[in-house]
Amino acid sequence: MFRVGVITASDKGSRGEREDLSGALLRELVQDIQGEVVEYAVLPDERGLLAAKMREWADELMLDLILTTGGTGFSQRDVTPEATLDVTERLVPGIAEVMRAESLKVTSRAMLSRAIAGLRKYTLIINMPGSPKAVRECWTAIAPALTHGIEILKGEAGECAEPIHESGMGV
Ligand code: MTE
Repeated sequence: MFRVGVITASDKGSRGEREDLSGALLRELVQDIQGEVVEYAVLPDERGLLAAKMREWADELMLDLILTTGGTGFSQRDVTPEATLDVTERLVPGIAEVMRAESLKVTSRAMLSRAIAGLRKYTLIINMPGSPKAVRECWTAIAPALTHGIEILKGEAGECAEPIHESGMGV
């Protein structure tokens, strides 16, 4: 069971003017990897507030995974990646690369998401775009590798080799 925190970055959401559909969807989706959302926050698009919440959840609560949704685009208020850069110690470029690569098969606008992913201590932090549709598409792309990554991060898996099947392919 992984302990997951979801941060929705949305000025309107934080004022109660928009229902947080993406956050609700992530609560369902993390069950795919035996995750449970134990912390949830809807915050305004403020770099300092977003970074402070990620820092608290990583350092004090030691969550396994923090998923953010929203604030990755071009609007002047979109600062989720910058807040994430403020707190991550090691970047995981492949996660964002895969989200964009797979999303580009659906929409060329996927290139407009500036999402990043990185590690702080024992916590993996991943930015996702703001719409439920985009969240689902990005999650589908990255979910298969997340369990292994988090287990390695926590020191619970020491072996990266994948089982070889008759086809000669790993799973
Ligand atoms: N990624 C996927 N998979 N599907 C989408 O529809 N929309 C894009 C992009 N990523 C999209 C996507 C659009 S239109 C924008 S503007 C950016 O994500 C940033 O979204 P955000 O500002 O809500 O974080």
